[in-house]
Amino acid sequence: MKIDILTLFPSMFDGFLNQSIIARAREKGQVEINIHNFRDYSLDPHKKVDDYGFGGGAGMVLMAQPIFDAVEALRRTDTKVILMTPQGIPYKQEQAYSLAHEKHLIIICGHYEGFDERIRTLADFEISIGDYVLTGGEIPSMVIVDSVVRLLSGVIEEESHLNDSFSNGLLDYPVYTKPVDFRGMKVPEVLLSGHHANINKWRYEESLKKTKERRPDLLEKR
Ligand code: ADE
Repeated sequence: MKIDILTLFPSMFDGFLNQSIIARAREKGQVEINIHNFRDYSLDPHKKVDDYGFGGGAGMVLMAQPIFDAVEALRRTDTKVILMTPQGIPYKQEQAYSLAHEKHLIIICGHYEGFDERIRTLADFEISIGDYVLTGGEIPSMVIVDSVVRLLSGVIEEESHLNDSFSNGLLDYPVYTKPVDFRGMKVPEVLLSGHHANINKWRYEESLKKTKERRPDLLEKR
């Protein structure tokens, strides 16, 4: 998979791209991620990318030209373009599974007070990561990339995402490691029993219990 991210703040991605699972997936060639400063596409002599909004109001508005030119330079026939915005469709694990099948994503990170409405015409999807407003689309774009890359074949053990929270419409079951007794808090007996059918039954029941307590809305959807 190839992912091109359009941003005005490329260095925000340094840590994200060069640590942990994302760094390893890039090294192994499982994903290619390129960060583009869309200021480089501005035709303005001063590389301006924003201006006052028509009709007045506070703040600057990102102009259409640099983003249109950047997307047009990078887009292929199999590209899906994603626009990060709090006005987008709320992001869910299901969409991560679906995006993980794509060959090429372009992700546009908005910033400042907003972007020219015509930029929306470039997007196949407008995605929001939640009902709160961040200073820009950079962190939301990292959320999308992280959730998609971990699903690509070979990036993490297949089994770990079969058990993910949400993968079966339930929250994940509890897990424990050594020691068996930590400050009086004991690992449930069943996990030490070696009886796989009982362990699976316990895990399913714990998932169900946790989901009922914390996210009853997920159960209604199932
Ligand atoms: N940009 C600013 N806030 C956002 C959000 N919640 N989701 C996606 N993009 C955003």
